Amino acid sequence: MAFEKSIVVTGGAGFIGSHVVRRFVQNYPNYLIINLDVLTYAGNLENLREVESRENYRFEKVDICDREEVERVFKEYSPDGIIHLAAESHVDRSILDPLAFIRTNIEGTVNLLNTAKNHWKNDYSSKRFYHISTDEVYGSLGDEGMFTETTPYDPRSPYSASKASSDHIVRAFGHTYGLPVVISNCSNNYGPNQFPEKLIPLFISNVVQQDALPVYGKGDNIRDWLYVEDHAEAIDLIYHKGRDGETYNIGGENEWKNIDLIKTLIEQVDEKLNRAPGFSEKLITYVTDRAGHDFRYAIDCSKIKSELGWSPNMTFETGLAKTIQWYLENPEWIDHVKSGAYQSYYAEQYGSR
Ligand code: NAD
Ligand code: TYD
Repeated sequence: MAFEKSIVVTGGAGFIGSHVVRRFVQNYPNYLIINLDVLTYAGNLENLREVESRENYRFEKVDICDREEVERVFKEYSPDGIIHLAAESHVDRSILDPLAFIRTNIEGTVNLLNTAKNHWKNDYSSKRFYHISTDEVYGSLGDEGMFTETTPYDPRSPYSASKASSDHIVRAFGHTYGLPVVISNCSNNYGPNQFPEKLIPLFISNVVQQDALPVYGKGDNIRDWLYVEDHAEAIDLIYHKGRDGETYNIGGENEWKNIDLIKTLIEQVDEKLNRAPGFSEKLITYVTDRAGHDFRYAIDCSKIKSELGWSPNMTFETGLAKTIQWYLENPEWIDHVKSGAYQSYYAEQYGSR
């Protein structure tokens, strides 16, 4: 079958990437979607079972830092577009091992940009390099204010600094070589398939297991939460309708102080498990704060709302209920992730190819 377009989605086996891959494979049967992912601890092909046998889906187990392999993928598929999500994504890990973040998030992004530039050879018609980034590049807010697309960058963790660097390099390729780039910076995502090292899935899992809930500092930090499918919808819109060289901020308009969110989460999980109200509050354990912990993130997403007509659809109440339900219904997914068993799924599924 001849496809109208081919798009490489990097990091498609991860949390947000798997929602993006599913959405594009299902909604655009005339696009060939190539999921390029090296499958780190965070990459899990079990996230993509629903689409793995679709005709318009391919998987390439490739490290974005590997020049030869990335070139091979470009030669094989001649992609029209790249949606770049592959990254080391967890702040706490970046504090323990910053070099891994420099390698993947910076070097890997440069390698993809370079390969796209060389492959497209200045013929950029209907081409697009779309870089997915985070609101954490803007730094930390006090009680007031919001990040806009023109807020100066002020990253404060190795993770956010590596993402900020990659954003700058993407823009540099736009300015210097005319590469048709677009960037979006999004707030904290939540939803099914998120690796249980991030706050919401970790705490759901721990409430179920009756393990301690480690609250950093006093739990006063504030995050803005967006349901992952709303992010995938924004990515779809920006990929198709965003303007070259532009940046779009994406947010949930949904700020929560960590401790308030944690108490709501505990209440809802306990309720679903028919436990008495407040049953699991005893698990709350205040621990030493994260080093350099950003106090508050908040996104002004008026640009994407007015320009592209996007807005967050999912209410937090429904989104959280759906997320909890998904984790309760998929205990084997958590078991596989925790034990690393999902890695044997790759061997089973792709080992003979
Ligand atoms: P994730 O950690 O769940 O998934 C990352 C994916 O990238 C995994 O499948 C992993 O195997 C793959 N990967 C990592 N290193 C790679 C490499 N060298 N080569 C190829 N593949 C590699 O991450 P996520 O939470 O889904 O985040 C996806 C993107 O969105 C990241 O760029 C992140 O910075 C950005 N983002 C995330 C959030 C959030 O709340 N999770 C918010 C805003 C932006
Ligand atoms: P996280 O999900 O790691 O996202 P990010 O740091 O990228 O915003 O953390 C969300 C918030 O929850 C952040 O303020 C740190 C806090 N947190 C805890 O209090 N305990 C935990 O065990 C984790 C993982 C996070």
